[in-house]
Amino acid sequence: MRNTTPGRRAESSAAPQVLDTLHRPMRDLRISVTDHCNFRCVYCMPKAVFGTRYHFVGHDGLLRFEEIERLARQFAALGVTKIRLTGGEPLLRPHLEDLVGRLSAIEGISDLALTTNASTLTRQKAEALHAAGLRRINVSLDALNEDVFQRMNDVGFPAARVLQAIDDAAASGLSVKINMVVRRGLNDQEIVPMAGRFRGSGHVLRYIEYMDVGNLNGWKLEEVVPMREILALVGAQWPLEPVSPERYGEVATRYRFVDGQGEIGVISSISQPFCGSCTRARLSPEGQLFTCLFGTQGHDLRALVRGGASDEEIYARLADIWRLRDDRYSELRTAGTPKAGQKVEMFHIGG
Ligand code: GTP
Ligand code: 5AD
Ligand code: SF4
Ligand code: SF4
Repeated sequence: MRNTTPGRRAESSAAPQVLDTLHRPMRDLRISVTDHCNFRCVYCMPKAVFGTRYHFVGHDGLLRFEEIERLARQFAALGVTKIRLTGGEPLLRPHLEDLVGRLSAIEGISDLALTTNASTLTRQKAEALHAAGLRRINVSLDALNEDVFQRMNDVGFPAARVLQAIDDAAASGLSVKINMVVRRGLNDQEIVPMAGRFRGSGHVLRYIEYMDVGNLNGWKLEEVVPMREILALVGAQWPLEPVSPERYGEVATRYRFVDGQGEIGVISSISQPFCGSCTRARLSPEGQLFTCLFGTQGHDLRALVRGGASDEEIYARLADIWRLRDDRYSELRTAGTPKAGQKVEMFHIGG
């Protein structure tokens, strides 16, 4: 069993229990602060689709930091304890540490993290983020081999600079995880070298099964390398054993190296979906609330905030949306009956 029961965490929370139709509480909020990105990863923002003319959210359309903070307080009141900032590339939003400071001060938020490509992360920025209250950072790095990595980000950005940023983040006191999206035929030969590089580093490497997020990345099932194959490859080199989940609803299945050199995770949304314990809500840069990564329809919270709604009204609306939630896209996909419709794009909702 990969997950503990929801009750354990919910009981320790001071917030009331608002459950969705599948009895899942709301515990995590992923906030996408911009849909801009300086990479064009082939599995997320293929250049052929996202040239320079693509229509991104304009400055006035973005939720302002004070609006995000106000919404986050109501999410926390509903039971959210973990907030993750995403994008696009979240560090392209100027003064992100100001937002981190606002969010880390919210009562009930015990885990504040960031997912980034780290291309603009300097030691100074990492220190500013840490000082503002950020404690964890997940850095995307799909390969160590420069040709492979630069072909994947498709803007020629060097892996060496991401590795430097990882060192800077760790030296600033941030706990670091590495995210590697695996796509067959593109970077599967990097599975074992990546494990070799991060074993013993103190950073957890997570392999992510390539997902059919959005409508524009040309996803094919044949290009997914399933969890069991990844574990067999790594385990053949360095024996692995399972580790129990750290918390309810964790997305990665964890394994440790038997020789004590740390652990890895695998995010198996395709081969072993984890919708049953999905406690995540997602806020888009312009304030649309999505209750699934594969959602087709958001709920407009910006209109609510800018329309003069009181905190109580915002809380009530969030609770109503969550109570009606029935999302389990990945499980339906596995069953062969995914919901039809234009899905929200990955770079927009932040994974
Ligand atoms: P931790 O808190 O460190 O465990 O991070 P995380 O894995 O929750 O967040 P991160 O942004 O690092 O995401 C890693 C991968 O998991 C990305 O590819 C996400 O799209 C994917 N992921 C996160 N949450 C979900 C989810 O609810 N459903 C699916 N299908 N994938 C998810
Ligand atoms: N499938 C799986 N993971 C993806 N990511 C972006 N697009 C996809 C996809 N199609 C990853 C990024 C980042 C995280 C937020 O999601 O590489 O690490
Ligand atoms: Fe790559 Fe992340 Fe940018 Fe998408 S949002 S193009 S995955 S760096
Ligand atoms: Fe949650 Fe949707 Fe991902 Fe399932 S597919 S785990 S419901 S976000």
